[in-house]
This record gives sequence, C-alpha cells and structure tokens, in this order.
Amino acid sequence: MNVILAESAGFCYGVERAVRLAAQTAEECGGCWMLGDIIHNASVVEELERRGVRRAEGAEELSCGDVAVIRSHGESKEILGMLAQRGVRCVNATCPNVMRIQNLVAQAEQEGRQTVIIGDPEHPEVRGIASWCSAPLVFDTSDAVIRWISGQKSPCGIPVTVVAQTTCIRELFETSAKILKNQCTNLKIFDTICNATHRRQSEAAEISAMVDAMVVVGDRKSANTKHLTEICQERCRSVIQVEKADELSPDFFHGCSVAGLTAGASTPAGIIKEVYATMSEEIKAAEGKEESFEELLN
Ligand code: F3S
Repeated sequence: MNVILAESAGFCYGVERAVRLAAQTAEECGGCWMLGDIIHNASVVEELERRGVRRAEGAEELSCGDVAVIRSHGESKEILGMLAQRGVRCVNATCPNVMRIQNLVAQAEQEGRQTVIIGDPEHPEVRGIASWCSAPLVFDTSDAVIRWISGQKSPCGIPVTVVAQTTCIRELFETSAKILKNQCTNLKIFDTICNATHRRQSEAAEISAMVDAMVVVGDRKSANTKHLTEICQERCRSVIQVEKADELSPDFFHGCSVAGLTAGASTPAGIIKEVYATMSEEIKAAEGKEESFEELLN
C-alpha cells in the first residue's frame, strides 16, 4: 500500500511570504492588522492572531498610525486609497504575480483597451485586479466568453487584453483564449496563471490518474484547492477534499491499494504531514477491515 505525495503540495512562495511578513510586522510593530483573512486557511489565521495580527473586516475600521499587511491576493485600488487617506501604513504582501496582473490591467486601461479577466468574479484576487481598470469583463466559463463574443460584430475589432486569475484552471484559460483568438482582430493575451499553480495542477492531474483514491487538503474557501479537487475528480473516481486529518475515515480507503495526496497553496506543511500520517494508518486500517471480512466469509 502506497501514498503518493505531490511534491508541489502546500504553501507557494507568495503565501509563505505573506504569512512571514505578517508575523514579522506584528513582532516589529507590537501588533498589526490584516483585512479579512490574510490567506484562506483557518489554522494559519488563528496562529497569526495569536502572534498579534488582528483582523479587520474593512479599511474603515483602521485609523492613523495603524499598520496593515496587504494579503497575497492583493487589494483593490479603492481600498489601498482609503488606507492611505486614513494614514494607515501598509506592508505590501501582494504576491508579485498578482501585482504583475494589476499592472497589465492598468496598462490596458491607459491604452484604451477592453480588459477581459478569466477567473471567478467573486474571488478577492479578481476583485482586486478588476479595480485597476474601469469596465473589465470577468468570465468564469468558456460559455460566458462565447455569449459575449457572439454579441459583438464579427470579426470583433475592439482592442482586447486578456489576463487570467493566477489560480485559473489552465484548460478554461486556453479554451477562452482560443475562442477570442478566432474572433478578435486586435487581441493581446497574457498567460498569467502562476507557475506554482500550473505545477500543482499538472501534478494533481498526473497523480490522480494513477491512484485508487485521491485526497486534496485545503480550506473550503480556497479557490485553488477547489480547482485541484475538480481536476482530480475528472481523473479519479474517489476524491475527497478535507481541511484536516480527522475528516478522513478508513471507509474511504476500503479496497484501495494506492492513494494520492495533494494540497492547496495555503495549506501549511504541518497539516499535510498529519494527513499523510493519518492516510498511512487509515489505509492499513482499511486493509485490516478487508482481511477480517474475508475471515468472516471463510
Ligand atoms: Fe502567488 Fe501563485 Fe501563490 S500567484 S500567491 S505564487 S499561487
């Protein structure tokens, strides 16, 4: 019985940097603030709170002299403006990959181009990116891209700039880009899916295709973890997404000879280790269960 652990499972450098900056800032400044959860992982957020990183729901709760750490997903132009206006000092932990997209979108706006973002319109990263231009279009399905392009003249001569949410599923981005390429005569496409995400998704696809059961670890609010689960479900019949090791039960591994394990970008190594250890035990327990059932038959 084997557990295959994805090498790319767990914290990406952007998340690791944000968590480190938040803890460091709280220590240096005798406490600091985060706006909402700095990353999508409850146990990491609780640990940061213990270290003095307080949580505010909005910029209006902060005042002059406060220090706020900007999360890896970035913030909207309006929120950053509001923080500056209120005299709040910002420590920018926005992932450089997200900042690059914000700059691309601002550049497109300056050049009078229509911005198209392929991603989830409700995700904080996308809301932040969208704020750097005046009227972005955000599509989370290729059908939505088709609907929009069908409403335009054919061929479509509008200058269009396309970017992707850093954690977008590659297949969605590529299909959307292809549809737009076929119809638009003035198109700039920037593949802004981050390398860490790409690697994590490819490895999840590869492992889930060769195992009997696949475990994905990550917070239920985490978009990149949800995408990993979807990718695995397309290739493996038994997929479970858990936040912690205690959500696993031997029944899930019944009849399983090899299982895979991956985790979202905001899952700390400690949780992955616990899940790995539990899986090894659960698989053994499930094997034991099968043997005693055999004994019963005999
Ligand atoms: Fe940055 Fe990619 Fe992580 S965009 S926050 S390195 S998933």
